[in-house]
Amino acid sequence: MIELRDVCKTFGKKEARVEALRGISLSVEEGELVAIMGKSGSGKSTLLNILGGMMSVDSGEYLYDDKAVNFKSQRELTKFRRNEVGFVVQYFALADDLNIFQNVALPLKYQGYSGKKIKEMVMQALRELEIEDKAKAYPSELSGGQQQRAAIARAIVKQPRVILADEPTGALDEATGEAVQEIFRKLNEKGKTIIIVTHDAKVAEHCGRIIYVKDGMVMDDGRKKKGEGVMA
Ligand SMILES: Nc1ncnc2c1ncn2[C@@H]1O[C@H](COP(=O)(O)OP(=O)(O)OP(=O)(O)O)[C@@H](O)[C@H]1O
Ligand SMILES: [Mg+2]
Repeated sequence: MIELRDVCKTFGKKEARVEALRGISLSVEEGELVAIMGKSGSGKSTLLNILGGMMSVDSGEYLYDDKAVNFKSQRELTKFRRNEVGFVVQYFALADDLNIFQNVALPLKYQGYSGKKIKEMVMQALRELEIEDKAKAYPSELSGGQQQRAAIARAIVKQPRVILADEPTGALDEATGEAVQEIFRKLNEKGKTIIIVTHDAKVAEHCGRIIYVKDGMVMDDGRKKKGEGVMA
């Protein structure tokens, strides 16, 4: 479903030049739950932003459903972002002046849905995350875990096939983080393809596979090598 081939990405010029990605190749099958791990600055967020169509590549290819993502067309990129991916970040990024219903409804704006359809889709997402009773509350009135659940509801409200999460449990205490991880597991069971960047070994442990990134390259894609795991 997702394949990167030799992707490079550089920021800045001259002395400020940073090679964030130095030839990343990886693939993710539909229905996988994958963790991406690696030290701070190794290129994980850059990688996730590219997978989400939020950042272009300098060189290399991004194939989605075997079709090259066209980074040259803003229109195609916007369509890709809107239709295919839901994004979850560490600090939730909810709008403080909107209530939870309005926050979750945001991605549906400008898409031509009727008010009735929007209400249906938002309430469905809130139910799925078990926060339908918080629809009228404001983000500041929610706990961290509830805020992250609202952010996940916002990410899934359009029913994207892929969920990309950048340190989704990074701002949560251990128990709340585990609850959020459990939500990802359930969404994955229902068929979502999920890629989670995490520093938390416990979170990664619950993923089907761990991809290790180092200095902008894939050190280990977590796939079993030939012969590994096979009884002699
Ligand atoms: N917009 C940008 N402008 C300049 N440099 C950037 C930009 N974004 C990332 N970088 C640089 O690219 C490298 C990779 O950054 P990235 O954010 O992908 O790392 P990361 O693995 O997500 O780190 P962390 O675990 O701390 O979030 C870093 O050296 C960073 O300073
Ligand atoms: Mg990061």
